[in-house]
Order: sequence, then structure tokens, then C-alpha cells
Amino acid sequence: MLLKRLVLRNIRTYENWEVALPRGSILFEGGIGSGKSTLLLAIEFALFGLGNEKGTTLLSIGKNRGEVELDIEASGRDVRLHRSLVRSRKGGVNQGALVPAGVKQDECWLEYDGRRFTYSPKEMKEAVLKLLGYNEPQDPKAKSLIFRYAVYTPQEEMKEILARTPEERLQTIRKALRLEEYKVAQENAQAVAKDLNSRAGRLQEEAKKLPSVKEEVRKLEERLLVLSDSISRADEEKMDLEIAIRGHRAMREDLRKKLEGLAAEAKKEQELSRALADAERRIAGLTSAIRLNREKAAALRRKIEEENSRLRRPSVPLSEADAALRRARSAMAQETELQGNLAQIYRSLAALVERRVCPTCDQPVDGEEFRLRLRTAKQELDSSAAKRSALEKEVTKLEEEARASMVYERAVASLADQEDRVYDTEQQVLTDGEELGGLEAQRPQLEAGIATATEAAKGYERANEEFRSNEAEIATLEHKVDQVKEAKVSAQVEKASIEAQIADRKARMAELESCRERGDRLREYVAWLGEYFVPALARMELIILTSTNREFDEEFGRWFSFLVEDSTKGVRVDEDFTPSVTQDSYEQEVANLSGGERTALALAYRLALNKTVQRRAGVDAGLLILDEPTDGFSKDQIGKIGDLLKELDLAQAIIVSHERELEGAVDHIFRVLKEDGKSRVQPIDA
Ligand SMILES: Nc1ncnc2c1ncn2[C@@H]1O[C@H](COP(=O)(O)OP(=O)(O)O)[C@@H](O)[C@H]1O
Ligand SMILES: [Mg+2]
Repeated sequence: MLLKRLVLRNIRTYENWEVALPRGSILFEGGIGSGKSTLLLAIEFALFGLGNEKGTTLLSIGKNRGEVELDIEASGRDVRLHRSLVRSRKGGVNQGALVPAGVKQDECWLEYDGRRFTYSPKEMKEAVLKLLGYNEPQDPKAKSLIFRYAVYTPQEEMKEILARTPEERLQTIRKALRLEEYKVAQENAQAVAKDLNSRAGRLQEEAKKLPSVKEEVRKLEERLLVLSDSISRADEEKMDLEIAIRGHRAMREDLRKKLEGLAAEAKKEQELSRALADAERRIAGLTSAIRLNREKAAALRRKIEEENSRLRRPSVPLSEADAALRRARSAMAQETELQGNLAQIYRSLAALVERRVCPTCDQPVDGEEFRLRLRTAKQELDSSAAKRSALEKEVTKLEEEARASMVYERAVASLADQEDRVYDTEQQVLTDGEELGGLEAQRPQLEAGIATATEAAKGYERANEEFRSNEAEIATLEHKVDQVKEAKVSAQVEKASIEAQIADRKARMAELESCRERGDRLREYVAWLGEYFVPALARMELIILTSTNREFDEEFGRWFSFLVEDSTKGVRVDEDFTPSVTQDSYEQEVANLSGGERTALALAYRLALNKTVQRRAGVDAGLLILDEPTDGFSKDQIGKIGDLLKELDLAQAIIVSHERELEGAVDHIFRVLKEDGKSRVQPIDA
């Protein structure tokens, strides 16, 4: 990597400054606090971001936004890196002093091949590590370890590593050489082995269930055989039952036909019984009618005889009596008329006599004569009255006779009438007797018919009984078929469930087998990790540490003797990388060295570390950045820096120092100046 240009805006004491960085060795020289270290911090910030550093250490106090732009050449490519800082939270006041607000990283981008790629700070760090070929963990909370140990040594870290305890130092070296990764790998491998072991344990524990599942399968398979057997038995039974049912159904058909025939015959019984009952009723009716008619006829006959015996023939037949009566009545009528006339005459004569004057001529009448004539009239009238009374008696007598004749005649007619009725009655008795005879002759026939029909009805009952028992038998058989079917279905259901269970258990067995296999395999992995992998890592770590230690020791000695021209003094590191000095083969305490010698020792140590880390990381940086490497150096020693830089043979070396004497040791000099608190960098042509 080569650094080509650096721009700072609102970074610490820089408001807005740009520095073009040439190839070769460069010296930034200036007074204390002029802003030299700031340049290096800005470079590191541009490359890797803040890491675990606070943004407030870089952003100028009182500014809200600052940025750094760095042009580099890496992997044959010109790249511009840009990072910025913004003040986010508001500041405050602490015990009267202003406390700056929090600062965080803002917009970042990379520009190359004419394209700009904008990133988050984390992504930007990843991209830069890739660009530089730094293969290290991409922890955004840390800066680059490789850069820190292979390229750039901050001012305060120059001697720091020597001041540490051996453990801390070894820790740092291991970190720089990334040997920690072997430790981490071992720990991880052990953790994995532990985890695998417990997993294997669980799997093997689980696999112990295998025999019991196998036993379950065996029992289920036995049950399956029993069920298959009962299913096929159910089929046979069903077939037998169905044959029996078919037989019974045929029988039922026969019985049905037979019943139909018998039913028709049995039905006649009712008709015949009704006919017989009718006939019997008729017979009873006729018998009683005959009896009553006979009695009636006998009674009538007795009455006729009685009446006949009482009957007297009259003296005159009715016709004669009637004629005589008519004559007498006529005579009586004439007599009555005559009597009336005579009475008239008499009453006229009586009046003449009385008055003695003729009413017609008004002549006095001879009384005597008229008295005589009155007497004669009286006599005639009396005789007529007597005659009429005789006639009256005659009529009464004749009427009597006529009535008697009529009564006789009527009685005779009534007798004849009764005779007729007797005849009719007797005639009816005869007719009824004939009908009765006919009916009685029919009766045995009807009775025989009824007997036959009754027999048929009995036969019907028997056949029906048979029919019913046949039906009951069919129902029983069908019920049995249903039972057999049910039994079969439940056996099939159980069979299916058992088959499912077997499948399930077999799957479980396969699972358990695989558990066992996996458990065994995991145990192998555990053994491999524990017995081979972890020890191998430990050996590799040791080998690397040992070989690095040897390399380091050589480099350390080389740079130290470069800086300290004292053939009696030598340096070396022990296996903990603890440096020690030998003087004439005697151990010399580091504390006993001069200040310059101590700085030289520190620089040599740092240079050795740079080299070994570069080699381990596989990066040939071609770039070295040192901040105040010559603190306490004598003029002679400072003069050696030029040779040292030549010996290092770097594409670019950046040295920050307040020592003007270093000017002769470098290719390019930049003066860092600060006026009114503002820094600027000024190139001075050597
Ligand atoms: N956030 C800051 N804003 C402004 N100045 C700062 C800030 N942090 C440090 N400084 C000052 O910047 C100056 C330059 O520091 P530095 O570059 O380390 O000096 P040197 O040239 O000695 O290496 C110092 O005076 C320091 O106090
Ligand atoms: Mg400084």
C-alpha cells in the first residue's frame, strides 16, 4: 500500500488541509502539539474507522462535522477513501467546563475505477480489509491488528510493549501474530467436542430404546396374524350364512305361494258361514211362521165352527123381507097422506060448525047437517088413524125381519171370508214348508263346505306359523351376518391401526438405528477432535510460536546492532518474547541501559515485530509509519535512521518526529506548523 494524498476537514487542529504524499521516506517534523500525530490518526481513521476510539478525539472541538479523505494505491489500484464524523448528541457543562457532544461516524464511501461505493462504517471496514488483503476478523469495534503491528506504531505504543509484564507481552505478541486463533480454535474444538459428546450421549441413550420398540413390533405383528386369521374366518362364516339365507328365502317363497292358495280357500269359510247363518235364520223364521199360521188356521176354523153353530137361518130370505117392507112402507105413506087430508077436512068442518057462517058465501049454515057431516068426518079420520097405526106396527115388524136376514147374510159372508183366510194361511204353511224343506236340504252342503274351508284356514295358520318361523330364522341368520360383518370390520379397523402402529414403530426403529449410528459417528468425531485435532492445533501453535520466536530474535538482534554500534552488546528474546541485553556474554538489565539505548531497543523490538507480523499475515506492506521513534536518541543514533530506512528498503516510510536532525535521513520533509491553534503542513524541498 502507498499513501498518496490526505485531506483533513475539521480534524483536531486542522480546519481544511490537504497533503500530497510522495513515495520514499517522509518526515513530518514540527513542535510538540503542532498536529503531527493527528495526521497519522487521520490516516488510520480513513482506513479502518473509529474502532473502539471515540469520535471526539478526532472531530475538532466546536465543529459539528468533520471528514478525512485518503488516496491510496493498493493491489495496483488507485482508491479514494472517505469517512466523516458528525456531532450527534448535544453537549453539556460539567463543573463549569463545556463537555463536547457525542460524535459518530457518518457517510463513508470508496471510489475507484471511476465509481463510488457508499457504505456503512462497518461495511467500509470490510471493504478496505479486502482491498488490502488483510485476512483478519472483521470486528467493527476494533481497528486493524495487522495495520497496528505490521505498519503503524502509534507514539505511545513504541515503548509500551517493553514496559508490560511477560504474560501481558506474550499475550500481545500472540494477538499480533494471531496465535490466539489457534487457542480459540482449540477451545472451540473442545467446546464442539463436548457438545458432540453430550449429543452422542443423548443419541446413544435414545438408541437404548431400540430393543423395546423391536419387542413392541414383534407383539404387534403377532396380533396382526391373529386379526388376519379372524378376518378370513369371518369371510367364510359370512359365505356359509348367506347360503343358508338363500335356502330359507327360497323356502319362504314356496310358503308364500302356499299361503296365497290357502288364504283364498279359507276366505270361503266366511261366505259359507254367512250363507249358513242366513239359511238357519230363514229356517227359524219359516218354522215359526208355519207354527203360527197353523195355530192361526186352527183358531179361525174353531171360530168358524162356533159361529156356524150359532147361526140361524131366518124365516124369510132377505130379498122377500125387503120387498114386504117396501110395500108396507108405501101403504103407510098413503095412509099418512090420507090421514092428513081427513084431518084437514075435519078441521074445516069443525070451524064451520063453530062459526055457523059459510066462509065462502057468508050464508048461515044448517048446523045439524054439518054436525052430522062432522061426525062422519070424525069417524073417517079415526078409522084412517087406526089403519095407519096398524100399518106402522106392520112396518116395524117387517124391519125387524129384514134386519135379521141381513145379519144372517153378513155372518154367512164373513164366514166365507174367514174360510178364505184359513185357506190362504194353510196355503202359506204349505209354501213355507216347501221352502223350509229346500233350505234344510241345502244345510249339509253348506256345512261340508264350511268344514273344508275351516280345514283350509287351519292349514293356513300352520303354514303361516311355518312362514313366520322361516322369517324369524332368516332374520336370525341376517343378524348373524351383520354380527360377522361387524366383527370383520372391527378386526379390519384394528388391523389397519396395528399396521399403522407397526409402520410407526418401524419408522421409530429406523430413527433409533440412525440415532445409534449418529451417536457412534459423533463419538468418532469426539475422539478425532480430542485425540488428533486439538493436539495438532496445539502443536501447530507451538511450532509457529517457536519459529516466529526464532525469526523475531534474529530481526531484533539485527536492528538493535544497527542502531547501537557496540559490539559488546547484544539483544535477544526468550520464549516469552521478553527482551534481554547481553554485554560481553553477561546478562544486562534493560533498566541499566541508557535512554537512547532503551529507545533503540524499543525501536528494534517494534521493527522485529513489524517484520514477523507482516510475514505471518502474508502482507508485504511496503509501508512503515513510525511516530516519534527516536525519543532520547543521540545525534549519532539519529544519524543511523537514514541507514536503517535504506536497509528496510520500503516503498514508503512515514516518520513523525520533533527532531530536526532526522531531516537528513529522509527523502521528503514536511513541516507541521500551528498558528492560532490551526495546523498546517508545509512541504520543504530537501
Ligand atoms: N478534538 C480536538 N480538537 C481540537 N484540538 C485537539 C483535539 N484533540 C486534541 N487536540 C489538540 O491538537 C493538537 C495536536 O495534537 P497532536 O497532533 O497529537 O500533536 P503532536 O504534533 O505533538 O503530535 C494538540 O494541541 C491537542 O491538544
Ligand atoms: Mg505526537
